[in-house]
Amino acid sequence: MSMASLLRIILSTLILLPISITISASESHPTQGFCSVECDTELTSSSGKILIKQGTVVNAHHKVVADVYIEDGIIVSVRPNIAVGDDVKVIDATGKYVMPGGIDPHTHLAMDFMGTGTIDDFYTGQAAALAGGTTMHIDFVIPINGNLSAGFASYVDKAKKSVMDYGFHMAITKWDEAVSKEMELMVKENGINSFKFFMAYKGALMINDELLLHGLEKCKSLGALAMVHAENGDAVAEGQKRIFDLGITGPEGHALSRPPVLEGEATARAIRLASFINAPLYVVHVMSIDAMEEIAKARKSGQRVIGEPVVSGLTLDESGLWDSDFTTAAKYVMSPPIRKTGHDKALQDALATGILQLVGTDHCTFNSTQKAFGYGDFRKIPNGVNGIEERMHLVWETMVESGKISVTDYVRITSTECAKIFNIYPRKGAILEGSDADIIVLNPNASFRISAISHHSRSDTNVYEGKTGKGKVEVTISGGRVVWEEGNLKITSGSGKYIKMPPFSYLFDGIDKADAAYLASLRSPVHRTAAAY
Ligand code: URP
Ligand code: ZN
Ligand code: ZN
Repeated sequence: MSMASLLRIILSTLILLPISITISASESHPTQGFCSVECDTELTSSSGKILIKQGTVVNAHHKVVADVYIEDGIIVSVRPNIAVGDDVKVIDATGKYVMPGGIDPHTHLAMDFMGTGTIDDFYTGQAAALAGGTTMHIDFVIPINGNLSAGFASYVDKAKKSVMDYGFHMAITKWDEAVSKEMELMVKENGINSFKFFMAYKGALMINDELLLHGLEKCKSLGALAMVHAENGDAVAEGQKRIFDLGITGPEGHALSRPPVLEGEATARAIRLASFINAPLYVVHVMSIDAMEEIAKARKSGQRVIGEPVVSGLTLDESGLWDSDFTTAAKYVMSPPIRKTGHDKALQDALATGILQLVGTDHCTFNSTQKAFGYGDFRKIPNGVNGIEERMHLVWETMVESGKISVTDYVRITSTECAKIFNIYPRKGAILEGSDADIIVLNPNASFRISAISHHSRSDTNVYEGKTGKGKVEVTISGGRVVWEEGNLKITSGSGKYIKMPPFSYLFDGIDKADAAYLASLRSPVHRTAAAY
């Protein structure tokens, strides 16, 4: 048995993780023509042995100059001066950072939405991810007519062409006994430990408070994390009508119709309902000061609430939605909307100070033709922006290069915290002996430039067009294979593994004790003597 295999078994046993299943694909994915750089279908390191030499190895808890030795997809050793034979591929990382690959907690690949489908699927979206230093993502399974198993099966199918590891959240769009039972099945059999409730998208994905309460109860009992898209969907529908009736039909109407107050209201409501149930809560795509302040207040009072800003909210402002060119303006349409200047900086500060915990992308791409479905009516513009390829660079530039956070905190917010929240740490989110060899080498002295011309998404636009900065992911290693080096992508359709995520993450520790203390505090029922009559 190889050292890598031994470490894998020890680690799996220690953290009681079932070894992930591989959903294999025998089909060879055709070259999509989306790559602006070389793509081939061969593995790069035939021996499966890699040594990364002399880099600064960064984990969320510590950084140190060391070598990292990888065998068969597993990190075997992290220490200085590792000697190896000629059959090992050596990467010189002197003066560079060696960090866990990014984990994107929020993506929508191959999603059917608003009458169309995202143009990035599990092949092109993941290719883009790897080129940008992200080595795992968690995508949202959408049930089919409310049926969870059917939704899961369809995503298993969509993910067969995966080129990197991935996990699934699942949306809950209706409530009955069957859904409740199927949630159990998803957690116990299918490796899903989080469920998303859309408080917006009236008439489509939106749920009501009664369903949210049922969902929070069920999630708590299963040790699964409840996630919310927090906007008041009824008020958004009213706002859309009001703005449209004013004759505002273009993309700016999107922002005007769903202001921050509606995000703040729904965030506060979800937080209070989670407090009522005493269940942990994860708020996705926090886009406004209003929502962020509700999260800050709840966390200060001791509530277990996680806040996820996304790259668009951290780095853009709403001005693009007012662009006179429809195609340019429409590319910025996402929900909740990208806000006025000021929200972006406040979200950055909240991330730096721990009010918000990790960064996602909400990568959900539509090309210009699809966005044009809403020409003349902003309500029909498919909602979503790109980000899976840009996240690691933009967070580096915005948070580290600017001096707002340390390099170790960068690793925490782009990788480690996500692995902990979704209970796959330290298999993912760390450079430790026994962890999966998902690693990036970032050169802090090289620079990046973002453009739709050179990105790997299938989209013909990029909301970060023209952005530049320092800090470049020069090498990405995914599952022990060098997949991105010298601007070349080398990926294999079907090589990505489905990562099962077990329930009861650290967010559930002590919940039972708090519930017991609450019950003890009730001093009820009061045992009374019988009434006299
Ligand atoms: O505009 C967005 N965010 N599209 C994706 C669906 C969602 O709400 O997460
Ligand atoms: Zn959402
Ligand atoms: Zn989303």
